[in-house]
Amino acid sequence: MDWQAGERSGTLAAQRGALADYSPHSQGIPMTKSSDFPAGKCPTIRVVMMPKDTNAAGTIFGGLILSHIDLAAAVESHQHHEGKLVTVAMDEIIFREPVHVGDVVSFFTETLKVGRSSVRVDVQVWSESRFGSVDRRLVTEAVVTMVAVDDSGKSIPLTNPRVPV
Ligand SMILES: CC(C)(COP(=O)(O)OP(=O)(O)OC[C@H]1O[C@@H](n2cnc3c(N)ncnc32)[C@H](O)[C@@H]1OP(=O)(O)O)[C@@H](O)C(=O)NCCC(=O)NCCS
Repeated sequence: MDWQAGERSGTLAAQRGALADYSPHSQGIPMTKSSDFPAGKCPTIRVVMMPKDTNAAGTIFGGLILSHIDLAAAVESHQHHEGKLVTVAMDEIIFREPVHVGDVVSFFTETLKVGRSSVRVDVQVWSESRFGSVDRRLVTEAVVTMVAVDDSGKSIPLTNPRVPV
């Protein structure tokens, strides 16, 4: 597969489109079933949500989820580049459901597109209800673009623009 050729087909994003269902309460946000959980995949990051991470409403602060999305996308992107990467864009962020203290949150990543200097990454965030429940919810989704840069901050070609087997 030519990873430099452009957008990859069969991505999680595309699969989500095929699996999407719409609830009358979802206000246009496609629902994802617990059975869609990518059980065979290793999450890029897993984190337990703590009381210090809450917002004024008592649920987990969205900024914390975003920072982990950024880190997960960076880990994914480093498969294509040995060196400095910066985030140029976070698109299509959807906070579907709140996350609660004690939830175990998994960040799954997939490379969508590899360019000259950039990597576009799909991030799915799944939350398991606290204390070992098998109730898994897709709580947040995002697409992140990272760019390889030199020490002066100028974009440079990726060192390894393909996905390892
Ligand atoms: C990332 C940065 C170096 C890009 O600068 P630039 O002048 O746009 O560089 P280029 O024109 O060479 O583009 C570099 C790549 O970024 C991509 N890009 C630029 N703007 C983009 C955007 N808004 N969305 C998606 N991709 C974008 C280009 O398509 C290009 O990809 P390619 O080389 O794979 O074809 C610059 O915008 C920057 O330093 N931003 C701040 C980064 C930062 O501080 N992030 C937060 C902390 S990590």
